[in-house]
Amino acid sequence: MKKLIQTLTETFSPSGYESAIREVIRAEIDGLADEIRVDALGNLIVRKKPTKGKDARRIMIAAHMDEIGLVASHIDDNGFVRFTTIGGVYPQMLMGARVRFYSGLPGIVHTEPLDKPTDTPSVDKMFIDVGAKSRADCPIKVGEVAAFERPFLDLGDRLVAKSMDDRIGCVVAIEALRALKSTPYDVYFVFTTQEEIGTRGAETSAFGIDPHLGFSIDVTAWGDTPGRKNFDMALGKGPAIKIKDGGMLSDPRIVEWMIQTAEKAKIPYQREVLLGGTTDARAMQLVRAGVPVGCISIPCRYVHSPSEMVDINDVQNAVKLVVALLGNPASGL
Ligand code: CO
Ligand code: ZN
Repeated sequence: MKKLIQTLTETFSPSGYESAIREVIRAEIDGLADEIRVDALGNLIVRKKPTKGKDARRIMIAAHMDEIGLVASHIDDNGFVRFTTIGGVYPQMLMGARVRFYSGLPGIVHTEPLDKPTDTPSVDKMFIDVGAKSRADCPIKVGEVAAFERPFLDLGDRLVAKSMDDRIGCVVAIEALRALKSTPYDVYFVFTTQEEIGTRGAETSAFGIDPHLGFSIDVTAWGDTPGRKNFDMALGKGPAIKIKDGGMLSDPRIVEWMIQTAEKAKIPYQREVLLGGTTDARAMQLVRAGVPVGCISIPCRYVHSPSEMVDINDVQNAVKLVVALLGNPASGL
């Protein structure tokens, strides 16, 4: 599984430019599904039909393929690339960062001089240096997108990479699909697009699938490093069952189903209340006439930095939980 995590996290696919990661995932799930299609927004929709019976309930499980990034907005006379952000990129994470454009070209990020060297620069003061000597010499055009450049790092149980958010959710979905032998549900795993700019791929794919219930698989914040307060989630204590985040209340029936299933299968889990942020589940919940949804979260340190950290045990337990949920249907849902 570490190899798969490395492959997925080292692929460059900021929001809207998911074709590279989609092809990597498609190759990985080849032969595991009954139906694979790509919709107009680029969502990869992977269906696993119910083992028996007609009129099975459709369940949608979303993990987003995209990652935060940058987009070139202006090339100055000296060949420096000015940029704006795609999704929640913090300026303090960009200072000195290496980035790679979708085309493969690398660059580094720096800033204009600041009033005080300890100030945090704003994005409009920053630029990407791609080694160009002039505008004519600059290989980057306005509109080209980039993402953090950072190789995968294996620290044993703890794994570090850019874009653990949410390639780790994609890994959980892929491994759950691989492990799933039988299910009474009509299962739609959706590898969604454009989550980081407002859960847009989940919105259209959920409309198309019209699920009876669903959940997302995504990272969540952490409370187990110095100075962190008001978060219970910790690495290595199990996947988190979301009760609330900044944009959604999970359906209590889904929460109950997840907790009972985890306890029955003796899978460790944590209860999650996230103060800010949300996931694809919010879009799924509000589609059409509404859908009961929840979310399984992988606790992740340093989310939206170039070095996001997860614990492999949480990933493995999340896979077990997804498979257990699909084998233990929620009564009345
Ligand atoms: Co994110
Ligand atoms: Zn995410």
